[in-house]
Amino acid sequence: MPSVYLETFGCQMNELDSELVAGRLAQLGYTLTRDADAADVVLYNTCSVREQAEQKVWSRLGELRHEKARRPGMVVGVLGCMAERDGADLMKRMPVVDLMCGPGELDKLPDLLDNAVRTRGSLLAGESASLSALQGNASRRSATLAAAGDDLELLDLSRAFSPIDGDGASRRSAYVRITRGCNKFCTYCVVPFTRGAEVHRPPGHIIEECQRLADAGVVEITLLGQTVNHYRFEHGAAVTVGGMVQPQKGRTYKGAHHRDAFAGERVTTFADLLHAIHEKVPALQRLRFVTSYPRDFGDDVLEVMRDSPRICRYLHVPAQSGSDAVLARMNRGYTVGEYLEFLDRARQFLHQPEIGRPLMLSGDIIVGFPGESDEDYRGTVALLEKARYKNCFIFKYSPRPGTVAYDRIPDDVPEAVKRERNNHLLSVQAAIGHAIGQEQVGQTYPVLVEGLSQKQLKARGLSAADRKPRTIGVTIGGAAVATLPGVEARDTGHTPDPGPVQVTGRTDGDLIVHFDATSDAHARSLIGRIVPVRVESAGGLSLTGRLLDA
Ligand code: 5AD
Ligand code: SF4
Repeated sequence: MPSVYLETFGCQMNELDSELVAGRLAQLGYTLTRDADAADVVLYNTCSVREQAEQKVWSRLGELRHEKARRPGMVVGVLGCMAERDGADLMKRMPVVDLMCGPGELDKLPDLLDNAVRTRGSLLAGESASLSALQGNASRRSATLAAAGDDLELLDLSRAFSPIDGDGASRRSAYVRITRGCNKFCTYCVVPFTRGAEVHRPPGHIIEECQRLADAGVVEITLLGQTVNHYRFEHGAAVTVGGMVQPQKGRTYKGAHHRDAFAGERVTTFADLLHAIHEKVPALQRLRFVTSYPRDFGDDVLEVMRDSPRICRYLHVPAQSGSDAVLARMNRGYTVGEYLEFLDRARQFLHQPEIGRPLMLSGDIIVGFPGESDEDYRGTVALLEKARYKNCFIFKYSPRPGTVAYDRIPDDVPEAVKRERNNHLLSVQAAIGHAIGQEQVGQTYPVLVEGLSQKQLKARGLSAADRKPRTIGVTIGGAAVATLPGVEARDTGHTPDPGPVQVTGRTDGDLIVHFDATSDAHARSLIGRIVPVRVESAGGLSLTGRLLDA
């Protein structure tokens, strides 16, 4: 069977898609490889959120031209949002591409790939072959979400669950999708176009997936959705096909501030879902979710978080701007005051440093959105100071063809101003992050150990990117196809260093902590475990601490 190299660009949703695709292909007999130069099939799972993300893929595709000239049998595929957005244009611009598959069509990838591989084979054999493997742009927004059509659910359901062996540390933490797509239509954003309408997965499927991951040894699950807190499954509306409950289209709801408003047998709300996973999967030590939308975040969810010890005290709630005028042009549906009120409410429920459980927040901000004045920007600085995120992703506005902002709002903030605001805001956030770090010194936190620290990886001639491989690791039938480098890399030639080995982990508030293990063997034994670490100093984006006796 052909070997496949799969590289992922962009968000966590893409990482999960790649993992599921890799798992599916491995089940079908393909071999996954980390060596792009030797692979029979090269797949890029792409992102369209900002132009820069697309540029990276264009240049990678450009580089592949030479490789393909050398090896004409090689198959090149573009998956994900760029395939969906650019459609046939992408293939025209880059003839090196043999197949494309949008994020809503990934269930069809094995067939597309099979076709493409066969076509290539017949071309090589000198036969005529005009088969096109392009199919990836049928919009699920316009398509009926009728149950029978939603085969995409099968991709999530086909996930491989194999027991994690000692070296499979990267697999101790897993993503589980709860919602696909987005109905928000923020004016700058391509996601509602590339990923289609919001669809919620049946709670039974989600809980079972969490259970099976926990049975396989996963200790931390991150639930994924573009707007996770909008999760809502109406059981009465569920359709069963072939004994399988189908996902359903999301409905927005207003003014939900108490759990009772939705509790009942016919509806599973996000609060109900969190509660159910927490109760039904006790082996799961950490449950988290991203990304939260700042509106319609009911007290019901905050109550469940407060009362469930294994749900992390961490929220990623993008504000995008600290100006009401800009928020309105972005179609975000809330004001700065409402956003800050939400953060206050979340803190009232969840910020409990006295019991070692402070609430940690992170955010996203776009600077240089059309019409953003100096005063608007000052509002954003003020918002960061009030929000006190532990970290914040800051982006320069990137006009995306097809979005409302691209069509109707001229991109009038000069690039130099965008850059200046971006750099300034990064420094504002760095100071806030540093202050939050200082507040942690002297505290002891349970830390989930993820692997060797960047410093340690560097000392071993590995890059930080090696710690989280871009080719997603999958374990099939107990055999690691690609596992966590760093530790395993030492099995292939590195002589263990005597003395301490620095490892990295995260608190349940998502703070990064480095500390020393006494030896390689000790480091290996800690990876994937949750251990108590006392914070001794804070610098930059991370904390340094000391391991206490577990
Ligand atoms: N330009 C810049 N940033 C964007 N984001 C989404 N679309 C754009 C765009 N056109 C950012 C938002 C979002 C994050 C995933 O990416 O901050 O929360
Ligand atoms: Fe894009 Fe807005 Fe949906 Fe987030 S909520 S994916 S920014 S449209």
